[in-house]
Amino acid sequence: MIGQNIAQAAELLKRGEVIAIPTETVYGLAGNALDESTVAKIFAIKQRPSFDPLIVHVPDLQSLENWVQNIPTAARQLAQHFMPGALTLLLEKKETISDLVTAGSPLVAMRIPAHPLAQELLRLLPFPLAAPSANPFGYISPTRAEHVAHQLGDQIPYILDGGPCTIGLESTIVGFPEGRATIFRKGGIPVEAIEAVIGPVQVQAHSSSNPQAPGMLKSHYAPRIPLVLGKLTELIPQHQGKAIGVLSFQERYPEIPSERQFALSSSGDYTEAARNLFSAMRYLDQLPLDLIVAELLPEENLGRAINDRLRRASSKN
Ligand code: TXA
Ligand code: MG
Repeated sequence: MIGQNIAQAAELLKRGEVIAIPTETVYGLAGNALDESTVAKIFAIKQRPSFDPLIVHVPDLQSLENWVQNIPTAARQLAQHFMPGALTLLLEKKETISDLVTAGSPLVAMRIPAHPLAQELLRLLPFPLAAPSANPFGYISPTRAEHVAHQLGDQIPYILDGGPCTIGLESTIVGFPEGRATIFRKGGIPVEAIEAVIGPVQVQAHSSSNPQAPGMLKSHYAPRIPLVLGKLTELIPQHQGKAIGVLSFQERYPEIPSERQFALSSSGDYTEAARNLFSAMRYLDQLPLDLIVAELLPEENLGRAINDRLRRASSKN
């Protein structure tokens, strides 16, 4: 069921149920982070391998401090600037956080979502919420309640509808291996914004063999229809005769039926493009197409995180 009843959502969570909740980045598949059987249920519903740990969500910095220790100075600075928001910090966990949540790591990923419904809900609960993105493992993250309903609706009792996500990309994940600030997942907060606060950071290339972020598997965010990246002015004529969909940054192409193309932002606005990206991928993925052709954005600002998702969406091909 989809609804906006926060009290009902809180009741279900208190009973150990797993439900979908809105955040400003993407929808999450949430449950009591302190209850191992609930956490196991999250992994099962998402069909997620148990080596891929979950983010723990809390309402504010004060409650964040309950679950972690030895917070590095740079982490505190980032928390001051970007929490609540699209930032996740990898921090040393206290013992109360189960190994099931962190997949055995001594670090736990902590996030304070800014979405008003998520905030209100977290304040009603006496426990933090473990929540991965509310999509089946490997598929595109959901940015609307209907996206969740479509794929997981029959497996969860409630989807808390908070409207379309305003950011539309997952949180930026920052860790501090050997004291060096490192971005493990590009996301809703641009690298440039992080660097403006704490200075130059390392950006870790995503790969399935990256032990620091086991979930950074290459073929993530992938549509079912093959997606090819390149120059659209070359790809479109190359694939003449096939049913193609076009995912562009700004331009539209008169030779392609208009319902088979999606321009992420006609004005070239990165924020708007990020907000539209996953909806656009889902939209094109349900059309009767042989192929989706897409182009990368400039490698700056949110363009970097968008390009990361596009590259991984195409890595199956
Ligand atoms: O925006 C977001 O971050 C959304 C919303 C729902 O908060 N959540 C999200 O969760 O994207 P998920 O599970 O789809 O992606 C979290 C990533 C995973 O790839 C996981 O490997 C990494 O964070 N992660 C979680 N805990 C970790 C840990 N202890 N150490 C290293 N990586 C971790
Ligand atoms: Mg995910």
